[in-house]
Amino acid sequence: MILRPARNILGALRLPGDKSVSHRYAMLGAIAQGTTRLSNFSSGADCASTLGCVRQLGCAVRVNGGVVEIEGRDRLQQPAESLDCGNSGSTMRMLSGIVAGHDFPCELHGDESLSRRPMGRIIAPLRQMGARISAAAGDRPPLHIQGGALHAIDYKMPVASAQVKSAILFAGLYAEGETAVEEPYRTRDHSEQALRAFGVEVSRSSRNRVSVRGGQTLHGIEAAVPGDISSAAFFLCAAALFPGSNLVIESLLLNPTRASLLDALKLLGARVSVINLEEHHGELVGTVKVEHGPLRGINIEGPMSVALIDELPVLAAIAPYTRDGIEIRDAKELRVKESDRIALVARNLRAMGAECEEREDGLRVPGGQQLHGAEIESGGDHRIAMAFSVAALRAQGESVIHGAESARISFPEFFTMLEGVVER
Ligand code: S3P
Repeated sequence: MILRPARNILGALRLPGDKSVSHRYAMLGAIAQGTTRLSNFSSGADCASTLGCVRQLGCAVRVNGGVVEIEGRDRLQQPAESLDCGNSGSTMRMLSGIVAGHDFPCELHGDESLSRRPMGRIIAPLRQMGARISAAAGDRPPLHIQGGALHAIDYKMPVASAQVKSAILFAGLYAEGETAVEEPYRTRDHSEQALRAFGVEVSRSSRNRVSVRGGQTLHGIEAAVPGDISSAAFFLCAAALFPGSNLVIESLLLNPTRASLLDALKLLGARVSVINLEEHHGELVGTVKVEHGPLRGINIEGPMSVALIDELPVLAAIAPYTRDGIEIRDAKELRVKESDRIALVARNLRAMGAECEEREDGLRVPGGQQLHGAEIESGGDHRIAMAFSVAALRAQGESVIHGAESARISFPEFFTMLEGVVER
């Protein structure tokens, strides 16, 4: 993909459904009574992987454009073949929690990138609950799970991960007793909201501690999935870069555990406003407008790094264009995402002529730098491809994004929609 510089970003958009919410609604629909009907379901390949697995587990799934219907089952069926999770860590980790509650052997595998990602974080708690699990060396996929009768645990998560929390809560549905999870920093709470939407009682005893009682019945829902805020991030950051930009995104997911990007943009100096806030199935949805303001700089660390984990690549990619730069700490998790995102961000910033300091748990990117177009290596990572497409819009000269097709993992429409709002 070749990206040319832009003059500004103008227009109004509505985005395909949020990836995190789509995964959860599909998985819970599979184990709920009755039919679950989801409109604006994520168009990304990751959520298609979840639907594929749900089919392999015996559920009827009908897909018609953005509308997905899932017939839930009381008990899932033993799959005939290994469950194909594709590139999707969310699919593998969260679905493991569900299959752990089923009395059949089951294998889960993924592509080359997913096969390198750590699974020990879900293996340990699910084993404690009574599932038998084996994995490849270093607790990497493929996973072999023999589930069955589980017992409740009270688990303190060593890493802040919404996928791990979700796997444990989902397994908790099949456990005798009350399963509790405590996280070191608050992570996205879509599983808690989705469980409640499907009729499950979820308790939150303190800010970072939730629990669920086993044996509850889920009931299918009808829902419109709100627009994906992590996909919106690329457009919002692009708009913030150009004086004269004016971008509106409607029906966007604004769950407070996901919307920290809006705070980050405001702290940087962009003009951000939110209107038409509504709540659907516990998820806040609204319209966001972004205009340019002189971008200063920010430090991102601790809980903010956790809350912004998927948006850090694009924030780092626009950092050279700010006045004071951006420093990111406490984001070691970026090294075990679809790629080593810290290393790839640093590599691509340097390719564009930027100075930056790479650290074990983050980056420091000084501001006041002018970049030039370059050959960008996405490493097959969707968020790297899209983040540097945004950086390329303010560079001098053309950029070539290698592996741009990886955008299909979360956002196949990205390049077409980008061209629709870019003014040259
Ligand atoms: C996700 C949680 C995050 C995030 C991923 C989606 C989710 O991962 O990076 O893109 O839907 O729960 P971790 O739970 O590994 O932090």
